[in-house]
Amino acid sequence: MYDLAVIGGGPGGYVAAICGAQHGLKTLLVEKDALGGTCLNRGCIPTKCFIHDTKLFYGAKNSSLLKGTEALSLDVQKMVSRKRTVVKGLVGGLAAIMKSHGIEVVQGAGEVSAPGKVKVSSPGGGAKGFGGAKEFGGAKEFQAKHVILSTGSRPALPPFIKADGRLVQTTDHALDTEVVPGKIVIIGGGVIGVEMASIYLNLGCEVTILELLPEILNTEDEEVRQTLKSLLAKRGAKIHLRAKATEVNTRGEQVEIAFQDGTGKMGQLKADRLLVAAGRAPVLDGIEPDRLGLKMNGPFVKVNARLETSVPGVYAIGDLVGGMMLAHKASAEAEAAVANILGGKREVDSARIPRCIWGLTEIGAVGLSEKEAKAAGRSVRVGKFPCPYSGASQAMGRKDGFVKVVGDSETGEILGVHIVGEHATDLIGESVMAMTMEAAVEDLAEVIKPHPTLSENLMEAAKDWSGLAIHAPKKR
Ligand code: NAI
Repeated sequence: MYDLAVIGGGPGGYVAAICGAQHGLKTLLVEKDALGGTCLNRGCIPTKCFIHDTKLFYGAKNSSLLKGTEALSLDVQKMVSRKRTVVKGLVGGLAAIMKSHGIEVVQGAGEVSAPGKVKVSSPGGGAKGFGGAKEFGGAKEFQAKHVILSTGSRPALPPFIKADGRLVQTTDHALDTEVVPGKIVIIGGGVIGVEMASIYLNLGCEVTILELLPEILNTEDEEVRQTLKSLLAKRGAKIHLRAKATEVNTRGEQVEIAFQDGTGKMGQLKADRLLVAAGRAPVLDGIEPDRLGLKMNGPFVKVNARLETSVPGVYAIGDLVGGMMLAHKASAEAEAAVANILGGKREVDSARIPRCIWGLTEIGAVGLSEKEAKAAGRSVRVGKFPCPYSGASQAMGRKDGFVKVVGDSETGEILGVHIVGEHATDLIGESVMAMTMEAAVEDLAEVIKPHPTLSENLMEAAKDWSGLAIHAPKKR
């Protein structure tokens, strides 16, 4: 009998297993593929490898300081192989961490056969084996006092699209492909669409984005969206807004994509590849909601603030429960779910979950946009510091972007922080900490920052909130 059985070994599941073991729970982790889930194998880490390598290439190729860059090319096979090495190393590291904690890792497809019972169908024969995981040909049932479901999500394809993995891809394919298309169309101008567009632009591809909504990156602050849109356009991306992809056909080595624009007019695009980034859907394999009596919230498993499902003893976390589909949100929920299993009352505050978008220019954001803060009835004041005013940004030659602080003008509460620019995804961490510690905008302004660094830009934006930025003209 286990104290805890976790189904799914992504950043939700493996963190839950580690936390459980750290607190003395006899823990079982069931994973059908590889430890690390989408994040490590087909998502965050592979994209970050590609962003890093293609950014290096783009920077060198477009440098006005280097000579002979016309002849420069990127060895894409080596880039993909480096990514595979990074992923393999991290997956192996996770297996070692599991072992060090005495977590029983079983390779196979997990299924909740009844509350407290987890059935695992394991392929056996070392089919996909990963370090230290147990395998057995056939099915076995395990008993556990508590179960955490963390089966994640997979790319959602519009019904008229079939991905062949070559001409029509999702990120599952794109992040393991060694051939660079000349022309690519991306369906979806959300987080994945924009990150992948940046990679393809770095590689010199012709990029077209089709986005159904009036804007790309719909969940971000208006100024962030506009800035990113114009930066992508400046780099040559064609962005069709209010454009709904309606039909996809492959002909020879080409893909044809039909779309309807905002006026109802039909358009047609041809490309060497189509990337579908139109959202992700929860993975319910092995979870039969009706049979288990598991209540759903649309396509997602319904949980309360403590991550409890409607079935006693069964918790659910990560992409499976909806909300922000982010690795660190899943990990935070994993820690909270284990704390609650141990008798705690922990909740994850979604207002403190950072949102990060990587690319040539990064986005890091937390909390409310200016518009959302106003809509919530707050009295809003904004402080802003543009990167061109920053010595560090200028010295790095990375002047695109800004830091924007949205604060409550009466209380000084930090309602949201939005960073566009170099290292924005790292820099946002400080704002999350400030909000978690309930610091005020004035506190952010008072922190002494090392000079010259990009970290000063947040301090300056916070000072600007009171009209007191140092490296900016007097506010009128
Ligand atoms: P998304 O929901 O962010 O964006 C999908 C976009 O596709 C939407 O804007 C939607 O309007 C558009 N769309 C849907 N059907 C369409 C059609 N037929 N024609 C044209 N446009 C259409 O989903 P995305 O980008 O696929 O990402 C999935 C999830 O993964 C998100 O929740 C995202 O936050 C998460 N993710 C996060 C990352 C990060 O934090 N850096 C990286 C990658 C994914």
